[in-house]
Amino acid sequence: MTSASFSIVPCKAVAHSNIALVKYWGKRESPHPDLNLPAVSSLSLSLDELRSETEVHPATSAAGDSVPSRDRFELDGQWMDNQMAQKVFRHLDRVWQQRLSQTNSGATERPACVIRSTNHLPTAGGLASSASGFAALTLAAAKAFGLADDRRVLSDLARRGSGSAARSLWGGFVHLERGRAENGSDCVAQPLAQAPSWPALRWVIVHTTGSAKSVGSTEGMTRCKNTSPYYAGWLESHESDIREAIAAIRAQDLAALGEIMEHSAFKMHASMMASRPPLVYWNATTLGVWHRLQSRRAEGLRAYATSDAGPHLKILCEAPDDAILQRDMAQVQGVLKVQSVGVGPDAWIEVL
Ligand code: PMV
Repeated sequence: MTSASFSIVPCKAVAHSNIALVKYWGKRESPHPDLNLPAVSSLSLSLDELRSETEVHPATSAAGDSVPSRDRFELDGQWMDNQMAQKVFRHLDRVWQQRLSQTNSGATERPACVIRSTNHLPTAGGLASSASGFAALTLAAAKAFGLADDRRVLSDLARRGSGSAARSLWGGFVHLERGRAENGSDCVAQPLAQAPSWPALRWVIVHTTGSAKSVGSTEGMTRCKNTSPYYAGWLESHESDIREAIAAIRAQDLAALGEIMEHSAFKMHASMMASRPPLVYWNATTLGVWHRLQSRRAEGLRAYATSDAGPHLKILCEAPDDAILQRDMAQVQGVLKVQSVGVGPDAWIEVL
């Protein structure tokens, strides 16, 4: 390796979190586990407000000192020196490798970076902070390292940090194809074609804990795949769920979309729960909120829930039902916070 001669351009990227309407859970068999290929396709809708903002700086200028530079990662104002920081630095290496392969510039050492990230959502709590976090990191690092803003390539890169991050490059409805290619080149997300504008859609986010999840998604997926007798059923019925959800979106049929979204979430959780030892991401409040939603639906309210690898519930509805839902869900015992957000925009990048 030659020593670093490349100058990093300080950049910032903002990416919004997304929630899968039809979930991804499980990795595809691959001789290259670092490609992080999903076993199934997925379909998501972005969230406004809940976002990650990430800056990439050259280590020396941002640190403002003359000690030998090394990567540093600051999250929400705190320097991190843990596994999360290692994942961030490893991801910078991936983006740098992509630059080397695009520019044919041979093996050049990656310059050290200072990463500053702010999560406008709880970290590792099942609210898709890894989706917005790795999407923002990918975009900021790509720009800082001089890569072209080719979102197909960047989606492929973001996926390697976190599967759901591939979808956080865009706002609105996004489809992540499972793909077939061994190198993962066809496993990229794209905005859903012919999706109608649906500005009335809202997410009501019901926070049911302040803690991070106990089992991370990668570990959970491996355990589920290796031990859950329901995992095979989850895989088999998946692509038809995607087709149904796409048809419901194109018809702007909230009831049909909500029904298939709930089916996908419950199938995923059923297969998680049947793992050994079981993966139970819900808490008592999750079920309390769910039962309250069922009662309201029986009274005619059109609202549908989903949850990920964590106990929070995300309720999909149309304005103005979000105000009723917010009031109602805030009264369920154990609920910490209720937030109503619209559909988030595309991720964006800025040179600092
Ligand atoms: O992005 P990951 O690898 O943390 O996996 C996310 C998995 C779920 O949030 C449970 C589902 C999804 O499709 O987002």
